[in-house]
Amino acid sequence: MKFAIVGAGAIAQLRKAAIDLLEGSNLAGVFDMLPERATALAGGARTYATFDELLADAGVETVILCTPPDSHADMAIAAAEAGKHVIVEKPMAPTTKDCKRMIAAAKKNDRVLTVGFNHRYFPAVKEIRASIASGRLGEISHVRGYSGHTGLSEFKAEWMYSKDVMGGGALLDNGIHMIDLVHHLMGPVKDVYGLTQNKTWELDRVEDNGFALLRGPTGTIGSAGASWTEWKGYHFYVEVYGTRGMARAYYAPMFFSEVTMDRPGGARTKRRKLYLPLIFTEKFKGWQSTAIQTFVEEMQDFIALTKGRSTGTAIATGQDGFRSVEIAQAVYSASETGKPVVLETLE
Ligand SMILES: NC(=O)c1ccc[n+]([C@@H]2O[C@H](COP(=O)([O-])OP(=O)(O)OC[C@H]3O[C@@H](n4cnc5c(N)ncnc54)[C@H](O)[C@@H]3O)[C@@H](O)[C@H]2O)c1
Repeated sequence: MKFAIVGAGAIAQLRKAAIDLLEGSNLAGVFDMLPERATALAGGARTYATFDELLADAGVETVILCTPPDSHADMAIAAAEAGKHVIVEKPMAPTTKDCKRMIAAAKKNDRVLTVGFNHRYFPAVKEIRASIASGRLGEISHVRGYSGHTGLSEFKAEWMYSKDVMGGGALLDNGIHMIDLVHHLMGPVKDVYGLTQNKTWELDRVEDNGFALLRGPTGTIGSAGASWTEWKGYHFYVEVYGTRGMARAYYAPMFFSEVTMDRPGGARTKRRKLYLPLIFTEKFKGWQSTAIQTFVEEMQDFIALTKGRSTGTAIATGQDGFRSVEIAQAVYSASETGKPVVLETLE
């Protein structure tokens, strides 16, 4: 696959490192509105003076959008119109209206559109999927997840906590990964309730804590919390509970645990995984080493999709990206009105 990256900032560095590890793929070109950034990232690849110049390059098959979220929709649509597949970083866009425009453009032009929910590829999350698929957990009753970081000290630019650019606060930032994961693991979501709060940072129209409560069509429940006031540092877990047990993914450090029973309250079988090589590598190379590996696996699934192979892939589609933004926006609405929001029916 011949990739081009748009937006040569922090996440683009990891995308490039992942492309370099992907057999049969290469970085064809880079565009950034700051040309020196594009040049610094490109290595031997082309750089473009404009986005249109990138789109006119027949040597580019897939565009990866690593720019701020308010630019994603117009760029993704133009890329699909130009015949390119698209991977867009999270959040897909600040509004559901933009997400829908992107999905429609990809469909009209028969292009693949996916969203960078790389946490689906954390080893401990993959292990949860395997637990669910094995049937060991029984029937899934509820999924609960939480993701938090220290907030403003994490941000290098003001757009990262701007309502107009991001579409919201903690729920659209780190929380969007967790909303996606809870949705991904619990299955379809019918309606949403939630609350938000901005007591601590007192930012303009963006929450520093958000809590989503999701209900599936068969009564499965999901909860997702997102925080910018996690004073202990980055904290992430997702847990799936079923009628015969539970499975948990925790990060950092990466950790998996499972408890299963032959009947509710029966004798318990415990299983744990501590990912020592990964933890060791992170000690020397940082969390980025884990992120790069998740991007490699995500892009392998992406390439499979472009070849018409969807079975067995865990990748987040444009529809999944839309759903995550829709759920976050539903929390904002519920927090204001006190009323749950019924989600749109997707085609
Ligand atoms: N998957 C993840 O876990 C993860 C982690 C961090 C960020 N992200 C997402 O990745 C995206 C980029 O975040 P980042 O941290 O790399 O930001 P960044 O500020 O480091 O980089 C953004 C780059 O885009 C360029 N840019 C901005 N507007 C542009 C435009 N209209 N045209 C061309 N270039 C433009 C900037 O010059 C900059 O180089 C965001 O959507 C963010 O939410 C995802």
